Amino acid sequence: MPLITLEGIDASGKTTQIKYLQKNLYSLGADKVIVTQEPGGTVVGKEISHLVLKRKELDIYPSTEVFLFAADRAQHVMQVIKPALTEGHFVVSDRFVDSSIAFQGAAGMQKEFIQAVNHLAIADIKPHLTIWLDIPVEVTVERLDKRGESDRLESKGVVYLQRVRDFYTQMAENEPYRFKRIDGTQKPEEIAKQIRQLCKDRFFGR
Ligand code: TMP
Repeated sequence: MPLITLEGIDASGKTTQIKYLQKNLYSLGADKVIVTQEPGGTVVGKEISHLVLKRKELDIYPSTEVFLFAADRAQHVMQVIKPALTEGHFVVSDRFVDSSIAFQGAAGMQKEFIQAVNHLAIADIKPHLTIWLDIPVEVTVERLDKRGESDRLESKGVVYLQRVRDFYTQMAENEPYRFKRIDGTQKPEEIAKQIRQLCKDRFFGR
C-alpha cells in the first residue's frame, strides 16, 4: 500500500492538509489510513525530537543532526511505517527523508552524505507520492507572526528557509512524478481538493 509524505518549510499548512487528506482517502475508498510524523512518530523518536529541536543550548553539529533525524526515521520505519504498509494500510507521514535533504542540505551537508546515512537507516522504503506545500518565505514569516511563534523563525533565519525552499524546488524538478508541488498560499479547501485529485488519479484510478 502507498506511503504518502508531506513536505514544506515552516507553517506551510501540512497539519491542516493531513487532516483533510486522511478524510479524503477514506472517502475515496481506503480501508485504513495511518497518519504519522517525523520527527517524533514513536516514543523513541519523541526523545530524539526533543533533543534535536528543543535543547537549544546544545551545540549539535549539522552532521550529528543528520544521524539523529535518521535514527528517528529508522525507529519510525521499523515500528510504524513498515508494519502498516505490510498490513495493507495507507500511510501518510508529515515529513520523511526529503526533509533531511532540504533542511540539513540547507545547513551545508552534502546530499550524497544525507542519502547514504538514510539508506542505512531505512533501506528501500520510498514514498510513492510526496506533496510539497510550497509557500514563499515571507508567508512563513506572516503566519508565524500571527501565531505568535516568530521566535521559531529567528532561530533559523529567513535566508536559511529560502535555501530549504530551493532544495524542495530542485526535488520537484528532478522527480516530477513523485514530488508534486502545490501552491500552499491557496485556500485550505482548494489545496485539499487538489491533493484529493492527485491521490484519486494515482491510487484509485480515474
Ligand atoms: P514541524 O513539526 O513544523 O514539521 O517541524 C519539524 C522541524 O524539524 C522542522 O523545522 C524541520 C526539521 N526537520 C529537519 O531538519 N530534518 C528532518 O529530517 C526532519 C524530519 C525535520
